[in-house]
Amino acid sequence: MSLLEVREVSVRFGGHMALQDVSLGVEPSKIVGLIGPNGAGKTTVFNVITGLQEPLRGRVLINGIDVTSFAPHDRAQRGMARTFQRLELFGSLTARENLMVAAEIRRTWGQHTIPAEERVESAIDLLGMHEFIDKRADVLTTGQARLVELGRALVTRPKVLLLDEPASGLDASETEYFAGILQGLARAGMGILLVEHDVPLVMKICHDIYVLDFGKVIAHGIPEQIQQDQRVIDAYLGSGSGVPA
Ligand SMILES: Nc1ncnc2c1ncn2[C@@H]1O[C@H](COP(=O)(O)OP(=O)(O)O)[C@@H](O)[C@H]1O
Ligand SMILES: [Mg+2]
Repeated sequence: MSLLEVREVSVRFGGHMALQDVSLGVEPSKIVGLIGPNGAGKTTVFNVITGLQEPLRGRVLINGIDVTSFAPHDRAQRGMARTFQRLELFGSLTARENLMVAAEIRRTWGQHTIPAEERVESAIDLLGMHEFIDKRADVLTTGQARLVELGRALVTRPKVLLLDEPASGLDASETEYFAGILQGLARAGMGILLVEHDVPLVMKICHDIYVLDFGKVIAHGIPEQIQQDQRVIDAYLGSGSGVPA
């Protein structure tokens, strides 16, 4: 039984099939990559998993329980958290306040024994945010804001984490730092589904990769298999450059 399972999901927008029979799975302690060209349907997969988009067909299961008809907050309560491709922080609040809001929401679910303040402080420690934690979110660098965004997901203590292009806008050293954090979370047992255009990062940290193209999974395997797959090279990786077209 998978921590997260997407079973033959299809989504249609008007006359356009955005997803066709997409299946994937995430296990505890694994970082799973979901890659593919712009418009392939990656964010739509996230929206179906989190309940923001109703699928035409198919199912979503968390720990074997079919949550396809559950509202987004009911899925979150079962241990799922996400970050957004476009940063969605409250600009007029400090970084710490942004974390508190997310942690307090979890408290109202009434199933958490660890106080919100404690979950916030441990996220600050884990992500190394002390230096800027009392600054307003709208003055943070992209790298700092991406950490706060990740922190907001972590304070809910998820079992499975969905990250939509978390390294976009980060420089090389920030990306490396971020990679180390994700590897640490996976070692601690978290399952991670990572949408990311930084192909070297995906190849370095993912245990398992799915490639989407025009709404279909065209390849699934370990990084070495994906890098050598001719369909993936043609659709996304380009002629051996490892850089998305
Ligand atoms: N709410 C929507 N309504 C109509 N079309 C959409 C909507 N969301 C996404 N699409 C379309 O569905 C396709 C997949 O989009 P998306 O999932 O955002 O791709 P990706 O994240 O891989 O870049 C694109 O053609 C996009 O224009
Ligand atoms: Mg997207």
